[in-house]
Amino acid sequence: MDKLRITGGRPLEGEVRVSGAKNAALPIMCAALLTERPLALANLPQLRDVSTMGKLLGQMGVGVERRDGGMTLQASEIREPTATYELVKTMRASVLVLGPLLARCGQAKVSLPGGCAIGARPVDQHVKGLEAMGATIAIEHGYMHATASRLRGARIVMDLVTVTGTENLMMAAVLAEGETVLENAAREPEVVDLARCLTAMGASIEGAGSDKIRIRGVRSLGGAEHRVMPDRIETGTYLAAAAATGGSIRLTGAAPESLEATLEKLREAGARIEINQSTISLEMSHRPDAVGVRTAPYPGFATDMQAQFMALATVARGTALITETIFENRFMHALEMQRLGADIKLEGNTAVVKGVERLQGAKVMATDLRASAGLVIAGLVAEGETVIDRIYHLDRGYEALEKKLGALGARIERVS
Ligand code: EPZ
Repeated sequence: MDKLRITGGRPLEGEVRVSGAKNAALPIMCAALLTERPLALANLPQLRDVSTMGKLLGQMGVGVERRDGGMTLQASEIREPTATYELVKTMRASVLVLGPLLARCGQAKVSLPGGCAIGARPVDQHVKGLEAMGATIAIEHGYMHATASRLRGARIVMDLVTVTGTENLMMAAVLAEGETVLENAAREPEVVDLARCLTAMGASIEGAGSDKIRIRGVRSLGGAEHRVMPDRIETGTYLAAAAATGGSIRLTGAAPESLEATLEKLREAGARIEINQSTISLEMSHRPDAVGVRTAPYPGFATDMQAQFMALATVARGTALITETIFENRFMHALEMQRLGADIKLEGNTAVVKGVERLQGAKVMATDLRASAGLVIAGLVAEGETVIDRIYHLDRGYEALEKKLGALGARIERVS
């Protein structure tokens, strides 16, 4: 199995281009299920999760044609409205086919995702919302069997803010009869990007990006061309890596307005940040100052940036409190960072991170995608060699990671 070997201790310097956002690409690919016309996507990241989604859609009978940096999807007919356990267990975002399949075919069979490394992650809000729109959903043998003759618009107040839940219901509502109002909706930029794509396909959506989204159902949708937004988490990850190593980097093709909370925290840590349209430059000329973070739904500090900021805190001046409020088990990287010499104490959902002057390389294990990103940053800072095992997690969400870090001067290689 592949591992990543990093020889740390060198500041990141140079320029790289940000890729398209994984968490926007995945729901947008599912939107192809809503029309028999082609959906042409550009700026799609080259990632394992994107290939997995292509495979899932292909199994249903969707035509999948890859082009350089893009993909055209065409669901002329849907032969098999099913997402199997085998695929859903490798990628929870597969559950995003439920809403569109139900809207288009009136039926869907989608595996329940089960638990995962970062927490329980139920899908009750997806189910509750679809039921409010008139669907019948029975759970049998680990699968959700959903049926509906035609979905009806409804007012749905979500019990908590869920990103894929909001996306699933928005995709179901665009073809429902009448108006749907989603309250307490997720405000993440990826929800807005999906709404933009659906609108280009002919949907009528107002309020995406706020906590109240109003969708007027239409009879059918057409094809469209859509450019996937830049990945704000990839952007934040490289910025945090540059800050932790005392480097100076430029990221092009980014969407600075989508990562305000991250930029604010990096400034608080002492980084100099300049923004020029889609380019972000960061320079860190001293050891970072400790900054505490508390994860929250957008526009709060993203849970997907928590591990990277923990890495930053391990070498900061002072003590940082890192509180995770979205997922109940998203501190697995803390124990691995301790192996690198970090001083971290876990107190419930808060990590107390006392910055040390230096980390030392060691063998560590990646447990999920963003935990892996945190370990890469810690490895880049640590003196000597760090070997990260189970890096298949990274391949799910970071395009050409070694190449991009290599271009920034990091000594990093993949070993078998
Ligand atoms: C999305 O997951 C992202 N994935 C995650 O990114 C991200 O960490 C997360 O949002 C939070 O920002 C995609 O967009 C594909 P949620 P999602 O539903 O939608 C609870 C990454 O590393 N909940 O917003 O699955 C849930 O358990 C990944 O790129 C329910 O209780 O997350 C969690 O505690 C990992 N019932 C909270 O809500 C539900 O029906 C927020 O989860 C749904 C969610």
